[in-house]
Amino acid sequence: MAAIPTETVYGLAALATDEDACRSIFSVKGRPLIDPLIVHVAAFSSIPAFAEPVEGLDKLAKTFWPGPLTVILPKRKAIPDLVTAGKPSVAIRIPDQKAALSLLAKVDGPLAAPSANPFGYVSPTRPEHVADTFGEKVPFVLDGGSCRIGVESTILDMRDPRRPGLLRPGAIGRTQLEECLGRSIRICPSVVSSVETALAPGTMERHYSPGTPLFLFESEPPADAGTSRQAVVFLQPPRERPHPIPAHAHAYWWSESGDLTEMAQNLFSLLRRLDAAGYVAIHCQLPAGEEPLAVAVRDRLRRAAAGK
Ligand code: TXA
Ligand code: MG
Repeated sequence: MAAIPTETVYGLAALATDEDACRSIFSVKGRPLIDPLIVHVAAFSSIPAFAEPVEGLDKLAKTFWPGPLTVILPKRKAIPDLVTAGKPSVAIRIPDQKAALSLLAKVDGPLAAPSANPFGYVSPTRPEHVADTFGEKVPFVLDGGSCRIGVESTILDMRDPRRPGLLRPGAIGRTQLEECLGRSIRICPSVVSSVETALAPGTMERHYSPGTPLFLFESEPPADAGTSRQAVVFLQPPRERPHPIPAHAHAYWWSESGDLTEMAQNLFSLLRRLDAAGYVAIHCQLPAGEEPLAVAVRDRLRRAAAGK
């Protein structure tokens, strides 16, 4: 087992066909055995050995792979039941990251790799994030620097290709997927409160959470956010912003320019940094709009704040 970079977040990887190695991923992450792992492959041509290449998959692959799209497909026997938590379906993607692709080409098989964070905690986007939370438990981290995208892949349910469903928003948006498939895509109720009832169990409500209580705002932080030991994260630096920073607040911003790409890249590392800084609360500004990354970032921040 080793941590590997991808273009989205770092993953905790083991051969997907090796049941014992995959069992250790669950135990190191503290992940319940009912929450299935996603499987990474190097090439489209290897998919039929592990999953059914349903109608429309070739179009998705041509348009989005390698890239931040995970597709749920009917699974084949070569993938152990442990990996899919007993489900007859498997989540598959081809990552767009040089080191990950060359590792996948070298190892003889697909790699199961969920995000390399303890279950429920903020995902890792830098090699030291993996080391910070796992230490000796994950002795090998393949260093790919900072992840280019910073939020996890879009998950598309293609078990029934005539009724595709969006399970998790990511850098690839629903409209792009609809244009590619020529079908409308239903949004699955991803905000569910318990791991047992979620179709994608990791999409349950409380997820990606720092230990510090996290609160969200759209345009202005609450007036009482201005006490010391509270952090306020704005979309961009003060000069671009109409609202004053509350007195005594420790102000941060997701991006120097208010740019969504930069915001997604910084999201998890800033949350980790502020979580380690000893604040009693973190107030986060949500990005507006329907661009895929705005939707994805809002989804992650809402989950991080849920249940607080
Ligand atoms: O960008 C990503 O997808 C990253 C990188 C490392 O590739 N991986 C990642 O893995 O985010 P993970 O395990 O943290 O999230 C995958 C999600 C989980 O919510 C899991 O429950 C869901 O995919 N999933 C896996 N197999 C599934 C299946 N057969 N049916 C429904 N959901 C599934
Ligand atoms: Mg995860």
